[in-house]
Amino acid sequence: MDIEVLRRAPLFAHLSDEAFAVLTDELTEVDLSRGASVFHEGDQGDQLYVIVSGKIKLGRTSPDGRENLLAVLGPGELFGEMALFDPSPRNATATAVSETRLAGLRHENLRKAIQASPDVSLQLLQALARRLRRTNDSLADLVFSDVPGRVAKALLDLADRFGRPTTDGILVAHELTQEELAQLVGASRETVNKALAEFVQRGWLRLEARAVVILDLQRLRQRSR
Ligand code: CMP
Repeated sequence: MDIEVLRRAPLFAHLSDEAFAVLTDELTEVDLSRGASVFHEGDQGDQLYVIVSGKIKLGRTSPDGRENLLAVLGPGELFGEMALFDPSPRNATATAVSETRLAGLRHENLRKAIQASPDVSLQLLQALARRLRRTNDSLADLVFSDVPGRVAKALLDLADRFGRPTTDGILVAHELTQEELAQLVGASRETVNKALAEFVQRGWLRLEARAVVILDLQRLRQRSR
């Protein structure tokens, strides 16, 4: 395990060496290939996870089997902490969308680190507030924006977090299938395909396998508003 990646994660960057040692005592390493789940909605659990490399999707399934994605997380981000702060079963299913390495931390050790260093609580509260902000934005978009607008916004958000500049645009290797992208924006695959095809036809982006290249950031931004 590359412990340095963990040390640099925003949550742990300000920790004293002592508090970090408490937190990562009993750390477990979890390696997943695409499609493998860490836990399922409704499971009990006493660990939280920090993504060392790769990507994790958090999803919920409706009683009739439809899926909705709450978020796609990347390196340095954490999940699985809700079951600690508000003891209840897992609120979502966590599944790898690419080769992924996680560091599993015991809830009990996070509790001890919080007691040893108030900074940990502040970082956690910031992460939770950021997530609530993001969730509120998605909720408003579901009500106020059309599907192409939501697709544009989702791609911009993924570009912010996973984008890399290339010679002709921003390469966003989101690792999602079009079905998963549709689950992320809360629309059918057909409608999302249509929106993507329109963006391609306008020259705003290029589609690649589980990735897009954004060619016209400004137009895509305008379409997302
Ligand atoms: P937990 O309930 O332990 O397991 C599922 C995890 O998904 C949950 O903790 C959170 O870490 C994460 N999660 C739940 N809802 C969201 C959301 N709206 N955005 C990002 N992550 C979430």
